[in-house]
Amino acid sequence: MSFSSKILDWYHENKRSLPWRKSTDPYKIWLSEIILQQTRVEQGLPYFEKFKATFPTVFDLAKAPADQVMKLWEGLGYYSRARNLHFTAKFIATELNGIFPNTHTAILGLKGVGPYTAAAIASFAFGLPHAVVDGNVFRVLSRVFGIKTPIDTTLGKKEFNQLADTLLAKDKAAVYNQAIMDFGATQCTPANPNCTICPMQKHCTAFSDKLIPVLPIKSKKIKKRDRFFNYLVFKNADTIVLNKRQQKDIWLNLYDFPLVEANSLLSEKELLENEVFQKIIGTQAFTIKKASKPFKQLLTHQKIVAIFWEIELKSALLVNDSSFFEVKQKNINNFAFPKIVDLYFKDKSLYLELF
Ligand code: ADE
Repeated sequence: MSFSSKILDWYHENKRSLPWRKSTDPYKIWLSEIILQQTRVEQGLPYFEKFKATFPTVFDLAKAPADQVMKLWEGLGYYSRARNLHFTAKFIATELNGIFPNTHTAILGLKGVGPYTAAAIASFAFGLPHAVVDGNVFRVLSRVFGIKTPIDTTLGKKEFNQLADTLLAKDKAAVYNQAIMDFGATQCTPANPNCTICPMQKHCTAFSDKLIPVLPIKSKKIKKRDRFFNYLVFKNADTIVLNKRQQKDIWLNLYDFPLVEANSLLSEKELLENEVFQKIIGTQAFTIKKASKPFKQLLTHQKIVAIFWEIELKSALLVNDSSFFEVKQKNINNFAFPKIVDLYFKDKSLYLELF
């Protein structure tokens, strides 16, 4: 029996029931695939349901305010996906009369849609014969066929894509693509797969050569940049100063606080002497109430460590930078924050607390 027949048979017995599989509506499929990029199915599911309920059509998503889209996306990470999602919804609504493109080339041309997502939409929505190659597929193919070429190299990508194309059951592209991804996600798992019950076992090179733990191979270990954020939390009885992030940096269009970034977390003395701090504070009288414990957040290429300095101002709150603005603490839930800021809020029940 061929590789693809085995995968299809396995899928028939073991498939997961996932809501986007009930639809061939390209809008819903696109939504689910953008949400699922770099996200596990269990984590993505509630977001898919929220987006589908809030924006039943591409027109609803296109006309939504950016802040609403970011707020619904809050917690999923990789926020450029949300910005591209919104951009593409507006493009489809206004330039394409709301009609989703139906060729692989046109789908691949949409902002935020790469080769994996284009193959997924083209096959799931339109039955087009394009093989998906995501992390699951890299793992399954590298193990079954014993491929040691690193998957994060041009050569590796080419080799895996070519193999995936030859294996694709072309008349059943949609179901085959779902099947190989499910097989990777639930049977051929990254750590400790249960090979004793695997239908591929007899044909699996990695199993016979004891290479399951080492395949697939990646050539580079991503080196993370350490960044230290000293956040300034200015608040009085019922308001708080937020910052809208507008620079070309992580978390574009999310909200946080006035920030003193430095080579380390600062002591109180270092903070007081810091130029950026002095510029923000200007001539205003203030009292530093306390510093939070350090919070950490890992991103793909960066490690963020932040402390939050809670500062009381004697007079009105300062707003001396066009990105800073004052809001009522009770309205804070209207804004989308990076995870590290949410962790700080949750830790403190800030909304209820006064100095
Ligand atoms: N991961 C990304 N897309 C998926 C899909 N359509 N089904 C299951 N897992 C996925």
